[in-house]
Amino acid sequence: MIRFDYSAAETFLKENRLESTRPQVETAHRTLVDGTGAGSDMTGWRSLLLDPNDALIGDVVSTAESIREQADVFLCIGIGGSYLGAKAIIDALSGYFPSGRAKQVEVLFAGHHMSGRYYRDLTAYLEGKSVYVNVISKSGTTLEPAIGFRFIRQWMERHFEDADRRIIVTTDPARGALNQLQQEKGYKKYVIPPDVGGRFSVLTPVGLLPIAAAGIDIRSFFYGAATACERYSRPGSGNDALDYAALRFALLKEGYTTEILATFEPKLTSFGGWWQQLFGESEGKQGKGLYPDVLQYSTDLHSLGQYVQEGQRFLTETFLIVENDGGDLPTPGMPGGDNLDGLDYLEGVSMTEINRKAYEGTSKAHTSGGVPNATLFLDRLSPGTLGECVYFFEHAVGVGGYLLDVNPFDQPGVEAYKKEMFRLLGKP
Ligand code: PA5
Repeated sequence: MIRFDYSAAETFLKENRLESTRPQVETAHRTLVDGTGAGSDMTGWRSLLLDPNDALIGDVVSTAESIREQADVFLCIGIGGSYLGAKAIIDALSGYFPSGRAKQVEVLFAGHHMSGRYYRDLTAYLEGKSVYVNVISKSGTTLEPAIGFRFIRQWMERHFEDADRRIIVTTDPARGALNQLQQEKGYKKYVIPPDVGGRFSVLTPVGLLPIAAAGIDIRSFFYGAATACERYSRPGSGNDALDYAALRFALLKEGYTTEILATFEPKLTSFGGWWQQLFGESEGKQGKGLYPDVLQYSTDLHSLGQYVQEGQRFLTETFLIVENDGGDLPTPGMPGGDNLDGLDYLEGVSMTEINRKAYEGTSKAHTSGGVPNATLFLDRLSPGTLGECVYFFEHAVGVGGYLLDVNPFDQPGVEAYKKEMFRLLGKP
């Protein structure tokens, strides 16, 4: 389960500011669920949860099982929404270090930058391993994954007689360059529904296949999101996703133009990357939107903590807190019995408890420093809970976009750099 607590942020809002946004939030919510707003033809990420395709999930599970039996490495090639969701969930639910007990498939990512050095090192690392590849691109024309796939396809064809069987394509049902190649080569194909944009696609095969290949229970993940979809599609009070959207909108009006997503659990840093794209691409247009930033505490309390506490006052903060982190290690006594580090008062106190106090202390300090903060609590890190989180943020950003009067489902600004880059590259 997840729950949202924004009590620490309310004091930063002028009287009635939050309440006065409620009617607008309700209207934006209705616009989203009724599918009457700008970009409503791109809200398939809701329909797929309201009417789940069990057969498709079953097919993804069985493909992943056979990959898990045969592969050492499952290499996912994609950028933006075609990889951030899978990476977020895999990082959140995998151990910090390989366990060495059961055979594990290593899920790696490429196609999200153009470092030649990376491909050199990657192909050297793949040498001697059983490799399966998933190239994921809705358009099939994005340069970063397309050029990455050129390198990897050539490498696969040189190394495996059955390369075509080891390559899976996830793309648009009909459009785009990958479809022609997929047909010629007979690659297995999964479809990105035309009404689901990249950053909303983690619950389609775009995210589900890599996540399942990592050994994660995608049914629980999917149905966690479906439960949250049902919960947050209801109007009125007690809807946490609407409270979050209302709070952000009200804070923006008060001049808080940057939102930090901060976690005290390093495994959730990649989730922050997914969140950052979701909010950045959905709201950041026409000179509007909160700038989304991700910090990982305690690490970043010792780099950006100073700025957050005392720098320019335009920051708001949302903590992502795991209540039962599964790491309940009691602090040991000092070997030898002396108290040279002065930490005897913590003997027997668990790391989970200490981390919790670090969060509570940070929230209080940032409140005193002028940073309104709220918290999304996750009872634990599980596929179901993360599914809930995914939908919570997707719903909030849909509502948030309509509150700002922008289309939350397009990303026209992403084209600008491509035009300049292609011109410099001499694209015909
Ligand atoms: O959210 C989006 O739509 C984008 O981030 C895309 O996912 C990203 O640009 C990659 O596009 P494509 O899947 O067409 O290669």
